Amino acid sequence: MKNSRKDNGKLAQAVPVIILICLLLIILAVAISFIIIYVCMENKLKDIEIENRSLKIRFQNLMTNHSELMTYNNELNTSHSKLMTDFNKLNTNQTKLMTNYNELNTNYNELMTSHSKLMTTYNKLNTKYSKLMTNYNELNTNYSKFMINYNEVSTNYTALDDKVKKFAKDVRDGIISLHPSGWNCTSFRKSVYHFPTDSSNWADANITCASMSCCSLVIVDDSAEQEFIKNYDKEKRWIGLQKDGAGNDFQWVDGTSLATAFWASDEPNNENTEFCVTKGAEFDQDKWNNDMCNAFHRRICEFKPECYVRKKLETDD
Ligand SMILES: *[C@@H]1O[C@H](CO)[C@@H](O)[C@H](O)[C@H]1NC(C)=O
Ligand SMILES: *[C@@H]1O[C@H](CO)[C@@H](O)[C@H](O)[C@H]1NC(C)=O
Ligand SMILES: *[C@@H]1O[C@H](CO)[C@@H](O)[C@H](O)[C@H]1NC(C)=O
Ligand SMILES: *[C@@H]1O[C@H](CO)[C@@H](O)[C@H](O)[C@H]1NC(C)=O
Ligand SMILES: *[C@@H]1O[C@H](CO)[C@@H](O)[C@H](O)[C@H]1NC(C)=O
Ligand SMILES: *[C@@H]1O[C@H](CO)[C@@H](O)[C@H](O)[C@H]1NC(C)=O
Ligand SMILES: *[C@@H]1O[C@H](CO)[C@@H](O)[C@H](O)[C@H]1NC(C)=O
Ligand SMILES: *[C@@H]1O[C@H](CO)[C@@H](O)[C@H](O)[C@H]1NC(C)=O
Repeated sequence: MKNSRKDNGKLAQAVPVIILICLLLIILAVAISFIIIYVCMENKLKDIEIENRSLKIRFQNLMTNHSELMTYNNELNTSHSKLMTDFNKLNTNQTKLMTNYNELNTNYNELMTSHSKLMTTYNKLNTKYSKLMTNYNELNTNYSKFMINYNEVSTNYTALDDKVKKFAKDVRDGIISLHPSGWNCTSFRKSVYHFPTDSSNWADANITCASMSCCSLVIVDDSAEQEFIKNYDKEKRWIGLQKDGAGNDFQWVDGTSLATAFWASDEPNNENTEFCVTKGAEFDQDKWNNDMCNAFHRRICEFKPECYVRKKLETDD
């Protein structure tokens, strides 16, 4: 037991030494740790500084790039503004151009319609023109033929006319007798007249005179002829003037209308009953009177030798 007490005292003397040793060991460990950490931290700091420098360079680069970008952006903005202005101008111009284009298009369509119509008209006219040209050429050919024929006829006519005039002169000179036998002939200008003594109504007088070719009741052309018939005698004699009673005017037997008349004063009267005309009026023997056609009067026949000779030559040919 005593030993154990001795042992216990020895142990109690050793404990602080052990504690001190432990403390020293702990402090040594901490110091070593700090040194290790410090070395590590310093390496880390060096890395960060390197990175910081590189970042700084990058930052500066970025700043340079940024200012470059800003300059570029401004240039772009300026260009964009100019482009926008140009675009707006172009847009305005394009709107104007579209308006112009639409107007031009409308005008073009109208012109095309007009053109089509004109072309149709032109084609029609062209067809007409062709037909007219064909017709014209035919007419021209016909005209040439006609002219050749006309010249021949003209030559033939001149020859015939000379012949007729010569015959007619011979007739008037009494060399050739062409009037019907029994005629009481007198000539005046180019005609031969017959003043017979027998009487008849107007219709019979007309037929009798017209029984010979180129002969009829007298047709009084002018005052000289009127002068001639009134100077022959003072008889009432039928002349070749009458009207049909249907309301038409007096007409010569050759179909011509009355141009120069030699009515006695107050004649023609009784126009609804007296349709036929005599020379030698009741109260003026030198002028004309209208009478009923069935009255009986002497007559004057007029014969035209030129006409007669011409017809005879034509039929003899
Ligand atoms: C990084 O750089 C900046 C500016 O040059 C400086 O203020 C900072 O202290 C630096 N940092 C380190 C950890 O070196
Ligand atoms: C800055 O710009 C240059 C060329 O302009 C390019 O090579 C470089 O990579 C850019 N830097 C950055 C950080 O974008
Ligand atoms: C350039 O234009 C953009 C977009 O229109 C705008 O945001 C920017 O502020 C303009 N910059 C300058 C410098 O005018
Ligand atoms: C717009 O039109 C006008 C005249 O019509 C012309 O002078 C001008 O140059 C045109 N503008 C553009 C941007 O084409
Ligand atoms: C031309 O004459 C011919 C024969 O005489 C006739 O048939 C034809 O119609 C005439 N042509 C014209 C265009 O008158
Ligand atoms: C003209 O007269 C000649 C001779 O008499 C005759 O052969 C010819 O047919 C006449 N010509 C015409 C166009 O009548
Ligand atoms: C012919 O006329 C004359 C003069 O008027 C006349 O004397 C004679 O009797 C008339 N002869 C005939 C046939 O009419
Ligand atoms: C006169 O006589 C001609 C020949 O006979 C005849 O054609 C004509 O119709 C007569 N005129 C009248 C008005 O009777």
